[in-house]
Amino acid sequence: MRGKVYLVGAGPGEPDLLTVRAAQILARAGIVFHDALVNPEVIALAAAAELVPVGKRCGRHSTAQKFINKRLVDAAGKYETVVRLKGGDPMMFGRAQEEIDALSAAGLRYEVVPGVTSALAASADLGISLTRRGISRSVAFVTPRVGEGEEPGNWVRAALAADTAAIYMGAGEAASISSALIAGGKPATTPVVLIENASLPDSRWIAGRLADLPILAKTGRGGPALILVGEVYNKVSSMESVQHERISA
Ligand SMILES: C[S@@+](CC[C@H](N)C(=O)[O-])C[C@H]1O[C@@H](n2cnc3c(N)ncnc32)[C@H](O)[C@@H]1O
Repeated sequence: MRGKVYLVGAGPGEPDLLTVRAAQILARAGIVFHDALVNPEVIALAAAAELVPVGKRCGRHSTAQKFINKRLVDAAGKYETVVRLKGGDPMMFGRAQEEIDALSAAGLRYEVVPGVTSALAASADLGISLTRRGISRSVAFVTPRVGEGEEPGNWVRAALAADTAAIYMGAGEAASISSALIAGGKPATTPVVLIENASLPDSRWIAGRLADLPILAKTGRGGPALILVGEVYNKVSSMESVQHERISA
């Protein structure tokens, strides 16, 4: 058996934001290795598959990346359709490249199925374009989280250079994010939004100024959260929950 491995984006949370292609692949999957953030309703679409949780929640236990790579390669020897299911889009802060490299090195076929990344779901919830005409012509997707051998400060340069910044995996470091951006020259009055559980029924966001970010972050309820920074957020008011109309049953 030389199965094919699909790196599938599960989207930001709500199951009906999954692509049709992703749903079709899950339905015929023999085995699914899934992240902790993936909605159980999405995982349930893989009705016939063996399900293998492989962690990946900030600060909590997760399966080592090298071990996941090896398990994907091994699974392709046993199953025709192997799925690696990741939150949001697999290519956005999802360590997809390490998995692709391991699959390529093993001579295996793979395919990436994109998903809606959380920054885009957040924009939808807020009703605020990341690239609002006249205010923002550039967006930086950044994270303060560093991998082995990476420069810790690189993300700051990118966030300062862009009109709008979407900061992933940063809610736990709000104080150092705020001071690094202000020290780098972003005005302390720059609008910020901290949005938690984007796309989900319990989506909530809190808006303020860059200098207040540490206080805003303390109001979080532990769900996955993004920090959005930029003048496009000037008129956002804090809000609990947004009513989405779900298409799926
Ligand atoms: C390991 S990264 C994976 C990002 C994912 N690949 C994506 O495209 O959204 C996890 C981070 O994504 C962000 N995130 C994921 N889902 C989210 C959601 N529903 N609402 C807000 N932020 C989310 C948080 O910053 C979280 O710490």
